[in-house]
Amino acid sequence: MRAQVAIIGSGPSGLLLGQLLTEAGIDNVILDRVGKDYILGRVRAGVLEEGTVRLLDQAKASERLHAEGLPHDGFSLAFDGRDHRIDLHGLTGGKRVVIYGQTEMTRDLMARREESGAPTIYDAANVQPHGFDGDAPYLTYERDGVSHRIDCDFIAGCDGFHGVSRKSVPEKAVRSFEKVYPFGWLGVLAEVTPVNHELIYANHPRGFALCSMRSMTRSRYYIQCPLDEKVEGWSDDRFWDELRRRLPAHHAEALVTAPSFEKSIAPLRSFVAEPMRLGRLFLVGDAAHIVPPTGAKGLNLAASDVHYLFSALAEHYQDRSNAGLDVYSAHALARVWKAVRFSWWMTTMMHRFPDTNDFDQKIQEAELDYLTHSRAASTALAENYVGLPF
Ligand code: FAD
Ligand code: DHB
Repeated sequence: MRAQVAIIGSGPSGLLLGQLLTEAGIDNVILDRVGKDYILGRVRAGVLEEGTVRLLDQAKASERLHAEGLPHDGFSLAFDGRDHRIDLHGLTGGKRVVIYGQTEMTRDLMARREESGAPTIYDAANVQPHGFDGDAPYLTYERDGVSHRIDCDFIAGCDGFHGVSRKSVPEKAVRSFEKVYPFGWLGVLAEVTPVNHELIYANHPRGFALCSMRSMTRSRYYIQCPLDEKVEGWSDDRFWDELRRRLPAHHAEALVTAPSFEKSIAPLRSFVAEPMRLGRLFLVGDAAHIVPPTGAKGLNLAASDVHYLFSALAEHYQDRSNAGLDVYSAHALARVWKAVRFSWWMTTMMHRFPDTNDFDQKIQEAELDYLTHSRAASTALAENYVGLPF
């Protein structure tokens, strides 16, 4: 088999890149080591920046997003028993975010891909990129015990943090930057009306809490938990009690509970691999970088990488220019590092760290006070939350 672009990974970055390429007449194949249902069973991000929505428009996969997504003009920062609204719309000259689950975005992109007839190979074992340091890269993989080879012009490594793409590069060709946080997030999904019409990010002496949603009848809630915590130790009742304790009283009283139908713990990490291009292999999304979820940036960063890579590939095939490909890594990383900084800052400001002393605590309180009383500081937060331009 031959394709102009071979994409490893059928997560949001691989599917979005594939759809943009297909729309532009550039043939591509996507391989994933797992199946469609497994991918659609993963509950992850929920906040889309306007830039991400525009890319989904361009990929012609946004019809349901526009019908069912919930535009949000602001969110609350809760601390000291009170709410402080961050007016995203007012502070950014009219920008907003849209609440739409990553699972739904993935489902829409998969449906568009099926309609367009572009090939996807699920349950592909031992996917391996080869020859990307030369002019004739190719992938090998196995399916049902049979070995296959795909020749291509370029390989897009959209295979997440644990994927094979980054690991296939010689160790000394990539520099990694990493910070692991000393806590995780315990998240639940439940069929209940959200406690508030906008998201609440709560800083509390017992730890961080986040009230999010997927729709007006489905809520997504998270609480900070120790890293060694096990999901089995958290009954629904224990989770709801702990969430209530971390919210201002009026929200705690309004919280509607029900049996959860998803419960999981995610570790928090910041990670960047440089460069994001190695010959004819391009790293995209979580394959190249991870942010802690506090700033709602992971999925949106994957989308901005896709924008840079798609534009560069379109320029290569349509204008016979490699200028975009040559600056892909530098352009993507400039935006990545700003989102890494923002996500680290939000995480540091909103969580309780096990080794926090009285001085650190006072600094955190001063930061929240400044942030919610200075228009300049609130504007900087809002500008980053709605997404920096790309
Ligand atoms: P992925 O979604 O990881 O997709 C990679 C794909 O590659 C997968 O389908 C995988 O099966 C496939 N793959 C992996 N290895 C191979 C291989 N060897 N061969 C073939 N295929 C392979 N972001 C937020 O903004 N908010 C959140 O609340 C949030 N929660 C998260 C919770 C968890 C548990 C995780 C892991 C991430 C979370 N994120 C969140 C981050 C966000 O979901 C990611 O940034 C986003 O999924 C990145 O998309 P991606 O396509 O780059 O990678
Ligand atoms: C969600 C996750 C986040 O990390 C965040 O900052 C906001 C919302 C969510 O899953 O809905």
